[in-house]
Amino acid sequence: MSNPDDSVLMLNLIKERHAIRDFKTNQPVSDDLLYKIIEAGGYAPSAENQQPWRVIIVRDRAKQRRIGELAVLRTIELFGRITPRQEIERRLEYVEALPSRERTIDWLITGRRFEYIKGEPKTDGAPILLVLVVESTHVGNSQPTLRGTGGVYGWSSLRHSVIAGSMFLQNCWLAASALGLGACVSSVQLDHYDDVREISELLNIPQPHWTPIMCLAIGYPKYPRTRGPPRQTPEEITYVDSWGQNWQPKEKSST
Ligand SMILES: Cc1cc2nc3c(=O)[nH]c(=O)nc-3n(C[C@H](O)[C@H](O)[C@H](O)COP(=O)(O)O)c2cc1C
Repeated sequence: MSNPDDSVLMLNLIKERHAIRDFKTNQPVSDDLLYKIIEAGGYAPSAENQQPWRVIIVRDRAKQRRIGELAVLRTIELFGRITPRQEIERRLEYVEALPSRERTIDWLITGRRFEYIKGEPKTDGAPILLVLVVESTHVGNSQPTLRGTGGVYGWSSLRHSVIAGSMFLQNCWLAASALGLGACVSSVQLDHYDDVREISELLNIPQPHWTPIMCLAIGYPKYPRTRGPPRQTPEEITYVDSWGQNWQPKEKSST
């Protein structure tokens, strides 16, 4: 980055991006902004520049509702039945205000927290749902300049496209934040094979060549969000030369 101020802006943008799950449902997102977001996604790196991705903009409320319903049902299964309540409480210890913590727990157990995916005004849903689809077989063969050369089946695996797809979506999320929009990645409605099949049918995705892996809900945030869950420090997650050998950086500046 040629201008030092740009790097500060960029680092702040990364740190200030947070999951937004309450939207102004009826405030539309222009195609111009969506174009910028998807274009930023496409600047993500991919192995051999395979660009093994496609995006479906879901505006249709009935389709949004069904995808959201799957998210809510799986959330109830995951947090309402499988995860012990003490574990949910432990994970949310960072929420200092007890009423907020209790409400978040309640919203997880009842699935209310993921209602936003349905795109309904009564639950402050997102007006736009992007579904990210990646190549699962013959990765790279759908990129014109690589067709027939890259992505030999069994070699360029699904792993590549999931990694590249994740980078794509992170670019989209950062671009949305930079443009004053709120967004949240979600995968709970695509974590179960039955749901992957149903969503593929709903959106006419040609399985098994292409597979939906994640969604990005986008809209104008109803409330500003200044804090997200805490992060581990670089010292906590970094080793030098060998697993377990903690890194002690020699210098650190505040920006
Ligand atoms: C792979 C992946 C899957 C996620 N799945 C969901 C999801 O199903 N629903 C949801 O609301 N958020 C989901 N999230 C968002 C995370 O909960 C959120 O990013 C994380 O708690 C950190 O909070 P922050 O983004 O506000 O910093 C997912 C994020 C990632 C990267």
